Parts: sequence; C-alpha cells; structure tokens
Amino acid sequence: MFPILTLKPDREKSVLNFHPWIFTGAVKHLASEAVHGDLIAVQTHQKKLLGYGFYDAHSQIVCRMVEISPQPIAPQASYWAEKLKQAYQIRQNFVTSPATTAYRLLHAEGDFLSGVIIDIYGKVAVMQLLIKGTQKIAPDLIAGLQALGFEHIYLKNKEITQRLEGIEQSSGWLTAPFEAPLQVLENGLKFEIEVEKGQKTGFFIDQRDNRQLLKQYAEGKKILNTFSYTGGFSVYALAGQAREVVSVDISKDAIAMCEKNIALNFGENAPHQAIAEDCFDFLKNTQPDEFDIIILDPPAFAKNKRAVANASRGYMSLNELGIRRVKKGGLVFTFSCSGNIDRDLFRKIVFTASAESGRKVRILHQLTQPADHPINIYHPEGEYLKGLVLQVE
Ligand SMILES: C[S@@+](CC[C@H](N)C(=O)[O-])C[C@H]1O[C@@H](n2cnc3c(N)ncnc32)[C@H](O)[C@@H]1O
Repeated sequence: MFPILTLKPDREKSVLNFHPWIFTGAVKHLASEAVHGDLIAVQTHQKKLLGYGFYDAHSQIVCRMVEISPQPIAPQASYWAEKLKQAYQIRQNFVTSPATTAYRLLHAEGDFLSGVIIDIYGKVAVMQLLIKGTQKIAPDLIAGLQALGFEHIYLKNKEITQRLEGIEQSSGWLTAPFEAPLQVLENGLKFEIEVEKGQKTGFFIDQRDNRQLLKQYAEGKKILNTFSYTGGFSVYALAGQAREVVSVDISKDAIAMCEKNIALNFGENAPHQAIAEDCFDFLKNTQPDEFDIIILDPPAFAKNKRAVANASRGYMSLNELGIRRVKKGGLVFTFSCSGNIDRDLFRKIVFTASAESGRKVRILHQLTQPADHPINIYHPEGEYLKGLVLQVE
C-alpha cells in the first residue's frame, strides 16, 4: 500500500510526542520504492504503526507527519476534506465575523497538515504548497475548499519552493478567476488585496491583532509605520484617530496600494504620507522627537539557520535606530517574523539594541501571531511571529 519507513530503536519518542518531523538520523530503513513526495507509513523498529507523512528525499527532515496514530488510514479525498473542515470550523468559532473576512484557513503544521497554507479573502481562497507531497493532494484540497463554499481558488507557489521541491504546478487560478478588485474587511476596515502580484498570499493577515492594539494607542499621536507594505498598521492608526501617519516601504507597488487603502477608508485628505524609501535610511534621517510611535515590521531577515548571525545584526541596528528616534515617553512596536530567530533570541537582540541606545525601556506587551495561525504545541518551530511593544523614556 504505502512505502514503509522504519525508525531506529528508541527513535519513536518524538513522534509519539506528536512532533511532526522525522530527521534522517532517526531512519533505520526506507522502502526502496519510496519516491520524493510520496505519502509513506512510519513504523517503529518493532513494526508498530506510528502514522503517515510526506517523504522528502532532499531534506534533513525526511518525513513530515500528517497523521500520528496507530490506526491505519485511507487518505482519500474525504480525509483531506475533513482536515479542512475542522480548520474552517475553528476559524468560524474564533476568528471570522462579518467585520473580518480575511483570515488564514489552514496553517500547515499548526493545523496538522504540513506543507500547506490556505488564506481566505472573502470568497477567494489562496493556496500555497510548500512541499512536493502536497501537490498530489491538491485536487482533494480544491474539492474540500469548494465544498466549504469557496468559488475562486488561486494557487500561489513560490518559484524557489517549486524549484527546490520539484513542484511542477506554477501559480495561477485553479477555478474561475475572481474579477479584481478584491476587497476584504479586517475588524471593519477595508483593504484591497492583490492576490496575484502581492507579497505572501496578498496580505499580512498575521498582524491583525497587533494592528488592533496599535489602534488603541493611536489617538492624537504622530506615527511612523516602517516596512508598511499595503498600509495595514497605518489604516488602523488613522482609525484610532492618529494625528498624522507616515508609511515607508521600499516597494513602490506596496506604497501605491497603501495610498489606495488609506483613501478607501478615509478619503483623499487623510493626514497620511506614503514614502517609497529604504527604512534604514529614512530612520537615520528622522529627528529624535518627531514620532510618538514607531512601528518596525521588517521582512524575515533570517531565511535559514545559517543566516541567523547576520540577521541578528540587522535586527539589532534596526531596533537601535527605532529606539533612539522615538520621542521621549513614546512607543516602539517591534517585530520579527523569522522562524529561525526564537522568542528568547529576539528579546536578547532588542535588549542589546536598548542598551546601545542608552535609553530606559519598558516592555508593555509581548505579541505573537493570531488564532488563525495556530501553533501545534508539539512543534514550537511554528511560532514564527514575535513582537514587543516598548515604552521608551
Ligand atoms: C513583513 S512586511 C510588512 C507587513 C506590514 N507591516 C503589514 O502589516 O502589512 C515587510 C515589508 O518590508 C518591505 N521592505 C523590505 N526591505 C525594506 C527596506 N530595506 N526598506 C523599506 N522597506 C523594505 C517589503 O517591501 C515589505 O512590504
């Protein structure tokens, strides 16, 4: 039926503890017929079934488990549709409302389905395949999404992932395309989403709760939103009655979308300025008493473990700049979305940046990803978004 992977003696513990990754060092034997991307059965050296996962022939993580159970399964269409249904139900219970129509429906390991991400924008579902194995189940996932009422499904595969994983299918509409423009609501605020051209699946859904927190502090404040992308934090700042907001991003397209989103919510005369510039340069030229609140939400600097040292230096200098520039008594909202920089390391980086600045700093809030980006408790690697709200004397 399935090619079988047999673990070395005593190497089943982490699977029994529900950790979904099996590393090459734990493998005693793998059936020779197994092909990269196959769904394989995993057993102990005593031939006790542990579950099933996707085989990866090119990675140290040789298998990503999707089912950890001693019961045999028949992973047909209904099996995958059921996983989607469960994830959907959780979002219905804890995340969505008429005021929030953009959310993550499926968060890979966080929803016990390694290698698949699905984001929802109203009636549009955007699916991202991160490992080869998921390509085979894509038709079942599409059927599952349609059964949940999503009429427009877009596949957004990163070119680099396609190349490394050997995924043949490129980005494109899998069903009837959605006729642009696509508008969603987040906490009652309007955003236009460019699924095809935008970064990630079109929007940084993961900052929803943190944007809402900024709104609470925004009244009467002058706010600098660095790495603003399409203006998520800026829209919330203005909704919270900020006196003035400046958005900065290096991407001209993102800045154009940011201006569009501001106009969509507040008309043409909102107290907002959008600037296409490098944020490090912009911060260096900012006066120390200009902004009451500064948001630092850079892209992931550490894309892999080897990049951690350089990335740490990047986060350090960015945070030092932000802390030095913010007005006395002001706030810095600082984030890292690098999965390879954990919560403790991020805190140490911000500590060092604070010490270098010579200013007194309090942590007011410790932030993370929202409920639609759940973390499988047995897979702490899934906690990728970290944030701190600093009050600076
Ligand atoms: C994590 S996203 C920010 C998401 C945004 N905070 C939101 O809520 O939608 C990072 C952004 O940084 C921008 N970026 C990357 N390097 C930059 C740089 N050196 N200066 C300015 N922007 C940069 C990217 O274009 C991207 O829009």
